[in-house]
Amino acid sequence: MKGIVLAGGLGTRLDPLTRVTNKHLLPVYDRPMIFYPIQKLVQAGIEDILVVTGGNHAGEFLRLLGNGREFGLKHLNYTYQEGEGGIAEALGLAEHFADGGPVVVVLGDNIFSASIAGPVARFREDPRGARLLLKEVPDPERFGVAELDGDRVVAIHEKPESPPSRFVVTGVYMYDQRAFDVIRTLEPSRRNELEITDVNNRYIGWGDLRYEILEGWWTDAGTIESLYRASGLVAADATGGPASSPASSPGQEGNGVG
Ligand code: G1P
Repeated sequence: MKGIVLAGGLGTRLDPLTRVTNKHLLPVYDRPMIFYPIQKLVQAGIEDILVVTGGNHAGEFLRLLGNGREFGLKHLNYTYQEGEGGIAEALGLAEHFADGGPVVVVLGDNIFSASIAGPVARFREDPRGARLLLKEVPDPERFGVAELDGDRVVAIHEKPESPPSRFVVTGVYMYDQRAFDVIRTLEPSRRNELEITDVNNRYIGWGDLRYEILEGWWTDAGTIESLYRASGLVAADATGGPASSPASSPGQEGNGVG
């Protein structure tokens, strides 16, 4: 099984932090953000990893990560996304790397506590269709939201004004090779990007999308508040202390999300 970390984009929601560097190089507690998704893939037994970067600072990834020795890897693969074409476009650049096989994709700004070894092992046993990890959150309108019928996902809505549930699609996606066929047919969305949600909805249409619930805490780190929250959550795990939750909405528990 191959792994892909998507770390392109301009990170405009983090301006001015991203004016002179890439979002995924910013610190989350004591590591650059991109360390976390790479670590998750390696811990799940994935050693063949592609990093998709972009923007003006792509060369810094090479300087930072090299061949991935720090993660116990012998080699890392890189590719470059021109412009801001979205997550699905970035994934499309990995088609050659995937070489017809199944892939595990992790968004470079998703930080979470649980191992993905279990879900990856289950996908490895039956690597057909798409497999998502969902998480219940207090602010689903910021994400792709699952519309559920019983325990079936019947549709995913990207950043809906009226979310049909509180279960959102986290940035861990597993796909068979048909994802790349779908990406070739996508049209840009309102935000002028190729949406990963459109890929997932295609799999739903085929009856070929499964999901699991991601254990532990999960957050993105793509906004000032969530970046700060991510550092607090990682720090709490590292030091055994209580999580600081500065950006919590009212009524939310102290560990941020979920
Ligand atoms: C993206 C996806 C969204 C998903 C989220 C997870 O959002 O489009 O469906 O829930 O990642 O972090 P974006 O970060 O592009 O706004």
